Amino acid sequence: MEMILAVDRDWHIGYKGDMLFYIHEDLARFKEITMGHIMVMGKNTFLSLPGSKPLPGRIHVVFSRDENFKVPGVVVVRSEEEMDAWVEENRKPDQKVFLIGGGSLCNQLLHRVNKAHITYVDKAFPNYDTALPNLDQNPDFTITWESEEKTDPSGLEYVYRTYERNRQ
Ligand SMILES: NC(=O)c1ccc[n+]([C@@H]2O[C@H](COP(=O)([O-])OP(=O)(O)OC[C@H]3O[C@@H](n4cnc5c(N)ncnc54)[C@H](OP(=O)(O)O)[C@@H]3O)[C@@H](O)[C@H]2O)c1
Repeated sequence: MEMILAVDRDWHIGYKGDMLFYIHEDLARFKEITMGHIMVMGKNTFLSLPGSKPLPGRIHVVFSRDENFKVPGVVVVRSEEEMDAWVEENRKPDQKVFLIGGGSLCNQLLHRVNKAHITYVDKAFPNYDTALPNLDQNPDFTITWESEEKTDPSGLEYVYRTYERNRQ
């Protein structure tokens, strides 16, 4: 599976159920990369989407152990095994599976990630409570592509990076 997330300088990704920053161009890129595909996420990440509603044009597979958690148009799974079974049965041949967050799910499913699309913001945000595993410190991953440096209208400096799992 592929992973797509935006991190700060210390690989922090969230605070109090929200993202640390919003970069318009990054959100457009997220939409372009994930459109038409399957997105896997934890319940907290789903609830953080605008209006806690699914994003158009993508399949949402949401992890939760809460048996009362049901949302129209969303696939709720209780385990990796349930996710595998659903994906195996429903995935179209050209559909990719993207892990989109949050910290809990990404830590648990990192072993399945072969490619990561990371938006790296070169700033440390003091308030955070959620982090992603730092792929720069993970010997299993290598940066295979990096964009030019960008600056958003608020002055945030960022780059897009692709990490790929090293072949065995
Ligand atoms: N910067 C970014 O790109 C980015 C992207 C996504 C999210 N975020 C941020 O990350 C934060 C959310 O991350 P998080 O770590 O708090 O939560 P999360 O990973 O989104 O969701 C955690 C929830 O998922 C369910 N879950 C986790 N593991 C499970 C398993 N093995 N089986 C069944 N259900 C499981 C549980 O729900 P139940 O309690 O219902 O059982 C758990 O409470 C927010 O601040 C969000 O804004 C940032």
